[in-house]
Amino acid sequence: MKIGIHSVSSQSGRAYLVDIIESGHEVYGYARESVHGKRFVAAVHTQQGIFLERPDNENQEEAHMIRLKEDDVGHDLEKLVHESDFIIVAHPSHYIQETVKQLKKAGILKRRIPIILSPSRTFAVPYLWDILGEGYPFVCFSTNPYSCKAPADGTAYIKRRKRSWLMSLEGEFKQYQIDMLIQLFPQALLNHIPATTSIGNIGSIFHPGAFLLNYDAINQASIEGRPYSFYMEGIANNEVVASHLEKIDQIRLKIADMLGLTVFGLEGHPNEERFQFIMNHLRDKEEQHDNIDMLRQIRHDYLREINDAILSAQHWLDYSYGIERISGESLQQAIGRTKTYQQTSFPQVRYVEEDIPTGLIPMMAIGERLGLDVSPIKVILDLYAHHFNRCETNDWRDLQQWSTDYILRYLKGEFFKIIGDVGEKEVG
Ligand SMILES: NC(=O)c1ccc[n+]([C@@H]2O[C@H](COP(=O)([O-])OP(=O)(O)OC[C@H]3O[C@@H](n4cnc5c(N)ncnc54)[C@H](OP(=O)(O)O)[C@@H]3O)[C@@H](O)[C@H]2O)c1
Repeated sequence: MKIGIHSVSSQSGRAYLVDIIESGHEVYGYARESVHGKRFVAAVHTQQGIFLERPDNENQEEAHMIRLKEDDVGHDLEKLVHESDFIIVAHPSHYIQETVKQLKKAGILKRRIPIILSPSRTFAVPYLWDILGEGYPFVCFSTNPYSCKAPADGTAYIKRRKRSWLMSLEGEFKQYQIDMLIQLFPQALLNHIPATTSIGNIGSIFHPGAFLLNYDAINQASIEGRPYSFYMEGIANNEVVASHLEKIDQIRLKIADMLGLTVFGLEGHPNEERFQFIMNHLRDKEEQHDNIDMLRQIRHDYLREINDAILSAQHWLDYSYGIERISGESLQQAIGRTKTYQQTSFPQVRYVEEDIPTGLIPMMAIGERLGLDVSPIKVILDLYAHHFNRCETNDWRDLQQWSTDYILRYLKGEFFKIIGDVGEKEVG
């Protein structure tokens, strides 16, 4: 299998590069010819590889150099398009329309290879079908599989690999493409319901609201030259902000409920008992093993029902970080108990640059189409307009061009199809 990575110079692009090479697949990593992209490619060529850094980890994986051939990375978009079986787009989601237009120019329509959006955020694919035609195969990841950084030009830093995540298949796929995806990402769970990744977009809850409601405090900390703990100061120690985020979260859960999905944490019908049952079952199984691959497999097998559902932010903290759900607990308290947030968490501008146009904007648009009160989201968008004064909205997913019927049919997965003969495998 040959995997193409678009934006190999990004933090996650490098992590993918390392893991794909080490898993024995072929790879081509494309970097833009930007100053940053050129520096990355030059460094990798000079040292004939990429250096992987790791913190202490359960797998005892040590820092090491991963050898690369000269033509494994470069700036050739046509090579990316013409030689790959899949293309993973490893950059923030608000650049995706621009990237797909360039892939079209480079001839991707002749190949119809699946494009993986890592992650897609909310309601990405209809915008991309506008460019490549309805039905083009896209794979939407619910989250980035890595927590990672790019500490130096020829270096990747993988802090953590996620044990499992969800991918929704959107458009028309050949069966062999699905089989290859499962082989490439055995930890991921697969479905064809775009709502699970779109409405499941938890970044839209945590990121822009907490950033903008705390905007003045974040700036003040920066002026004073002290770090600002995004999750602790911004949410766990701030009841007003935390309860505002919960209100936005409830809009998300109501949308999911109206779409007919299973929902955990909806006010008035939290479905707590079922959630506890599944999670306790999982924890019992996990206790019996300590091998990381086995633990991944167990999560894969036991979390199917939860993966096809939409979870409140508190339930998501249990599922993702093991912060065992306490029935009725507020978001403020649950965040306060989350170890990974207690360590370091910095405010990042991408929390608005990416998550406003690709998260809150489409979430509000869907909520409005369904007749929900979306005023808690409007408060955040007003703050964004006030502080950021951004004029161009070409990456703004406001869903204006689609009917409500189309939006609902898309979210429920009506445009997924398997085409072609069973066992068919394209060559070249
Ligand atoms: N990193 C993490 O730990 C993490 C964790 C959770 C979620 N995520 C999500 O995963 C996605 C990828 O994150 P990331 O951290 O890998 O991204 P990143 O490193 O912040 O991405 C920046 C990269 O985007 C590239 N890029 C592509 N098109 C661009 C354009 N039109 N304008 C400017 N830059 C462009 C840039 O390429 P050049 O090199 O040419 O400048 C740059 O390398 C995001 O959605 C992010 O929110 C990341």
